[in-house]
Amino acid sequence: MKSQHCNLLLLRLLGGGDQRCARMRKLVPFDLVVVLVFVLGSIVSPFSMVAEGAHFRFVPRSPRNLAENSYNHAVPAYLAPPLQFGFYHKTCPQFPEIVKRVVTKEFELNPTNAAPQLRLFFHDCFVQGCDASVLLNSTKANQAEKGASNNFSLGNFFVIDEVKEQLEKVCPGVVSCADILALVAVYSIKAAGGPLYEIELGRRDSLTSYAPSAETYLPASSLNVSGLLEDLQTVGLDEVDLVALSGAHTIGQAHCSSIINRLYPHVDSQYPKYYSKQLVANCTDNGYLKLPNYDNNTQFFNDPVTPLQFDNQYFKNLKENLGLFTTDESLFNDERTKKLVETFASNQDAFFKQFGISLRKMGKIGVLTGTQGQIRNQCWVRNSHNVDPALDPTSLDFVS
Ligand code: HEM
Ligand SMILES: *[C@@H]1O[C@H](CO)[C@@H](O)[C@H](O)[C@H]1NC(C)=O
Ligand SMILES: *[C@@H]1O[C@H](CO)[C@@H](O)[C@H](O)[C@H]1NC(C)=O
Ligand SMILES: *[C@@H]1O[C@H](CO)[C@@H](O)[C@H](O)[C@H]1NC(C)=O
Ligand SMILES: *[C@@H]1O[C@H](CO)[C@@H](O)[C@H](O)[C@H]1NC(C)=O
Ligand SMILES: *[C@@H]1O[C@H](CO)[C@@H](O)[C@H](O)[C@H]1NC(C)=O
Repeated sequence: MKSQHCNLLLLRLLGGGDQRCARMRKLVPFDLVVVLVFVLGSIVSPFSMVAEGAHFRFVPRSPRNLAENSYNHAVPAYLAPPLQFGFYHKTCPQFPEIVKRVVTKEFELNPTNAAPQLRLFFHDCFVQGCDASVLLNSTKANQAEKGASNNFSLGNFFVIDEVKEQLEKVCPGVVSCADILALVAVYSIKAAGGPLYEIELGRRDSLTSYAPSAETYLPASSLNVSGLLEDLQTVGLDEVDLVALSGAHTIGQAHCSSIINRLYPHVDSQYPKYYSKQLVANCTDNGYLKLPNYDNNTQFFNDPVTPLQFDNQYFKNLKENLGLFTTDESLFNDERTKKLVETFASNQDAFFKQFGISLRKMGKIGVLTGTQGQIRNQCWVRNSHNVDPALDPTSLDFVS
C-alpha cells in the first residue's frame, strides 16, 4: 500500500524518481501529511492558477515545493507568496547592475557566452522548477542534475558564480542563485541583441538535485511536436510557449550527438542537401570517422545565418528546412505549430513579445518562495545548516 502510494502518487507529485521514493518510505507518517497537504492545497491554493494575458491556466504546483515545505519548514506550498517585479529593490538594489556588468564583460570577451547562460535557465526550470537545482554539484552519495547523462553540454556556470561572489560582497545572503539564473538569462538575451525583458523575482534555492529528474523532464532533441507537447504539458506550457521558446535556438551551438538521429542510419532528406553534406562531413571529421561513430567535439551553430544574434532568423530558417534538431524541424511540419512559425518568421516584434511572455511563464515553474528552500551562500553547494539531517539523503562529500 505504502509503496503503491509512492509509485502512483508521490512519484508523480515529487517528480524526483526512485531516490526520493526511497526517502519517503523511510518516513512513513509523513506519507499521510503529504497526501493531506496536497489534497487541501488542491482545494484552496490561490497559486495554482496563473494569470497569462486574458485567460487563466492551471499550472501544476511544484512537486518539490511540497516536499521541501512539508519536510523542511512545515509551510504548505499554497501559503508561499508569488514572485514579484523589483523583489530586491530595497534589499539589494545593485543586483541588476552587477548582472549586467558581468554578462556584458563575458559577452565582449566572447559572444558565444550568451547562449549557454540562457540555456541554463531552461534546464533549471524544467527540472524540479526554477530553483537552481541545476547548479548543485554531485556528491559521492548523489548524482546531481549536472551529472545526468543528458546534461547536454551545459556550460558557463562560472558566470553565475562570478555574479554570486560580487553579490555576497554587497548584500550577503540576500539574492538566490535561482534569481541569478533568471536575470543572467535576461541580460544574456539583451547582450545578444534581443530586448531587455522584465522578469519577476523572489525565487529561492533548492536543497536537492537529482540526475534522474533531468533525464525525465528535459525533452530529447529527437522528439516531434506530439512528444514535445506531452513533455511541456507536465510543466504547464503549451504550443505557443513551445514555438516561442524554441526561438532561443536563434543563438547557440550544438554537438553531433544532438543530430545523430538525423544523420544515421539515414541522412534526413528534409535537410537541404548542401546543409546535410556539411553536417555529415563535420561530424565524421571529413570521412575519417564512419557513422555511427562521430566527432563529439564538433559544434554547429543552431542558427547558421545569424548565429550570435538574438533575432527571428531561427523561424526564417525553419521555413528553409534549416532547423537543426528534429524538434526544430517538426515545428514547421506540424499543423499545430506551423502558423506560429510563419507569424514569428515574418514579424520579429510578435516573436519578441511572445518570447517574453513565455519566458516569464517558464520562470514560474515550480518556484520556491517565502520561507521555502534557502538562499545559498555559494551556488554549487547548499548551505549545510537548516537542512534537517534526518531528511538528508546526501553527504556533503563532493566528487571531484
Ligand atoms: C523545446 C525543447 C528543447 C529541446 C529539445 C532543446 C534541445 C537542445 C539541444 C539538443 C541543444 C544542443 C546541445 C548540444 O548538442 O551541445 C540545445 C542548445 C541550446 N538550447 Fe535548447 N532545447 C529546447 C528548448 C530550449 C529552450 C526553452 C531554451 C531557452 C529558453 C533553449 C536554449 C538553448 C540554447 C541557448 C542552446 C545553445 C547552448 C550553447 O550554445 O551552449 N532551448 N537545445
Ligand atoms: C555532463 O556529463 C558528462 C558525461 O557524463 C561529463 O563529462 C560532464 O562533465 C558533465 N557536465 C557537467 C556540467 O557536469
Ligand atoms: C510522433 O512520434 C511518435 C513516437 O515516435 C509517433 O508514434 C507519432 O506517430 C509521431 N506523431 C506525429 C504527428 O508525427
Ligand atoms: C561520441 O559519443 C558517443 C556517445 O556518447 C560514443 O558512442 C562515440 O564513441 C563517441 N565518438 C567518439 C569519436 O568519441
Ligand atoms: C563545417 O565545417 C566547416 C569547416 O570548419 C565550416 O566552414 C562549416 O561552417 C561547418 N558547417 C556547419 C554546418 O557548421
Ligand atoms: C562544483 O562545480 C563547479 C562548476 O560546475 C566547479 O567549477 C567546481 O570545481 C565544483 N566544486 C567542487 C568542490 O567540486
